[in-house]
Amino acid sequence: MLGKHSKLFFTVSICALIVSIVITTWGFPKIIKRQVQKNVQIDNSSVMFEKWRKLPMPLTFKVYIFNVTNPDEVIDGEKPKLAEIGPYVYKEYREKTILGYGENDTVQYMLKKSFVFDAQASGTLTENDELTVINLTYMGVLLTVNTMMPAIVGAVNEALGSFFGNLTYPFMQIKVKDLLFDGTYLNCDSESSALSLVCGTLRVKRPTTMRPSDDGKGYYFSMFDHWNTSIGPYEMVRGTENVNELGHIVSYKGKRTMKEWGDPYCGQINGSDASIFPPIDESNVPERLYNFEPDICRSLFVSLVGKRSIFNMTAYYYELPESALASKSANRDNKCFCKKNWSGSHDGCLLMGVLNLMPCQSAPAILSLPHFYLGSEEILEYIYDGVSPDSKKHKSFIYLDPVTGVVIKGAQRIQFNIELRNMPTVPQLEKVRTGIFPLLWFDESAEIPVSIQEELKHSHMLLSYVNTIRWVILVVAVAATIAGAIAVARSGVIPACAPHNSVSFLMHPAHAATLDINKH
Ligand SMILES: *[C@@H]1O[C@H](CO)[C@@H](O)[C@H](O)[C@H]1NC(C)=O
Ligand SMILES: *[C@@H]1O[C@H](CO)[C@@H](O)[C@H](O)[C@H]1NC(C)=O
Ligand SMILES: *[C@@H]1O[C@H](CO)[C@@H](O)[C@H](O)[C@H]1NC(C)=O
Ligand SMILES: *[C@@H]1O[C@H](CO)[C@@H](O)[C@H](O)[C@H]1NC(C)=O
Ligand SMILES: *[C@@H]1O[C@H](CO)[C@@H](O)[C@H](O)[C@H]1NC(C)=O
Ligand SMILES: *[C@@H]1O[C@H](CO)[C@@H](O)[C@H](O)[C@H]1NC(C)=O
Ligand SMILES: *[C@@H]1O[C@H](CO)[C@@H](O)[C@H](O)[C@H]1NC(C)=O
Ligand SMILES: *[C@@H]1O[C@H](CO)[C@@H](O)[C@H](O)[C@H]1NC(C)=O
Ligand SMILES: *[C@@H]1O[C@H](CO)[C@@H](O)[C@H](O)[C@H]1NC(C)=O
Repeated sequence: MLGKHSKLFFTVSICALIVSIVITTWGFPKIIKRQVQKNVQIDNSSVMFEKWRKLPMPLTFKVYIFNVTNPDEVIDGEKPKLAEIGPYVYKEYREKTILGYGENDTVQYMLKKSFVFDAQASGTLTENDELTVINLTYMGVLLTVNTMMPAIVGAVNEALGSFFGNLTYPFMQIKVKDLLFDGTYLNCDSESSALSLVCGTLRVKRPTTMRPSDDGKGYYFSMFDHWNTSIGPYEMVRGTENVNELGHIVSYKGKRTMKEWGDPYCGQINGSDASIFPPIDESNVPERLYNFEPDICRSLFVSLVGKRSIFNMTAYYYELPESALASKSANRDNKCFCKKNWSGSHDGCLLMGVLNLMPCQSAPAILSLPHFYLGSEEILEYIYDGVSPDSKKHKSFIYLDPVTGVVIKGAQRIQFNIELRNMPTVPQLEKVRTGIFPLLWFDESAEIPVSIQEELKHSHMLLSYVNTIRWVILVVAVAATIAGAIAVARSGVIPACAPHNSVSFLMHPAHAATLDINKH
């Protein structure tokens, strides 16, 4: 009697065990993955869609400007003394306009950024503060002419000065608002043939930082005005088919690679726009996360550092590594970013920690990390006072939620510089030291608000319940099987599972084991 029951019980529990193993190891993860995908994919049915389309909170855009405290001495050949003034804080709103959906699971959109000065967060600093900084237009024009036609640099310099009845100057006193957004004027309404050559070049290959004035007679230069607008179109993978491709940018302005670097490798568009990443597969955590920065015509990557706790959640923490902006001798991959000679004393490429933006922006701007963090000693030596790299303040990083791929917190920190070059034919530059001169740096950062933290925690909790249930099912099935096996062993009846072939094949080892146990 008991034997018959135990045989049935054992058979049922063995079958339940097999089913629960299949469900818990294959079915559950598959269902969970599908559910997560449904919530994160770029589709108007998904939970994340609205947050992707319009960031629920503004980014914080902080600008730190290097005030030159000894401009006259620099002209006389001394090392620059700088004082960092900031942060000038802006709120940066981001909103996408969907243009359409493409083949191959993509979405096309325009990205609109808008900047608003945050007087409260800026404290005593105002947009009307006047600072002394290097004049990027002036140096930019002279450096460009010097590369193209060194013989006419002196004439161009005189032409630049002619509007003011005196010679212009590599430094300028400027209101913060004008430097960052409103612009300073370059007058092209001139008789000078040297200057009309410069202006003609601007007309053909206008740097992104120069915008034509309304009357068409000149240009305004500002650092960020061209960011305060709509850019694109971007084409991004929606992840409805393959969630691991979610957020991947396929093309920008209709191009699949950036031609500016003249090299297919450096022109690769890799990764996302840093607002969205695929969920992380815990068994295959990506070593690098790429993101594409149209303003510098390239992708940069952050490297996995490890797991970190943030807002009481476990996240993967990534940081921008030294190799991203390494010189070509330290990182061969960077070779194709080395387009122009920076200075005769170098090997046709830039130093450690800097990127020449000339090919990208048509202006001789040089990008680095703030305070030349992770940069060459040689760059720091050029400056007497006022730069001190500090990993805490100057690194770029991302905290990523592994379950959803949501960026919990992140910061991108970039500095813009220009070369101050000694030019014997230009009186204002005949004594200066040649070197990389910092202008300003920005910190563009965001963290998810408490409401989204709670949402994430909630979904993590659900997931851990599901996982617990999964293990409970498995444990119960195993326990029942063991109990059944013991009962069978005691009664001496040999069980058989369902008549299915594959199942009875699976049963054989258990069968043998039971016999073994019986012998002892
Ligand atoms: C969602 O997108 C589909 C096209 O993909 C469209 O037909 C539908 O109207 C949209 N629904 C909403 C609520 O916007
Ligand atoms: C910036 O530097 C100039 C000297 O070039 C100095 O007169 C001015 O006070 C400085 N401004 C601030 C805010 O420190
Ligand atoms: C979609 O993918 C196929 C195959 O990979 C490719 O041939 C085709 O050009 C792609 N279509 C678009 C619009 O990118
Ligand atoms: C950004 O552009 C908008 C209009 O397009 C303007 O109202 C706003 O003042 C600009 N922001 C800054 C910081 O200049
Ligand atoms: C140049 O001349 C203008 C007016 O003619 C004057 O305001 C300005 O201070 C002068 N600049 C220098 C650097 O001498
Ligand atoms: C910077 O230099 C350019 C070219 O010489 C000049 O047009 C512009 O007025 C200067 N900017 C300031 C704020 O002096
Ligand atoms: C782009 O991504 C591929 C594959 O992840 C990588 O091998 C390559 O180095 C990346 N290219 C650049 C320019 O970073
Ligand atoms: C983290 O959790 C602890 C205890 O559960 C709590 O006291 C603390 O306030 C939490 N911190 C945050 C940032 O949520
Ligand atoms: C860079 O400058 C060096 C020394 O002046 C010169 O030998 C080399 O040919 C230059 N390289 C390029 C790409 O212009």
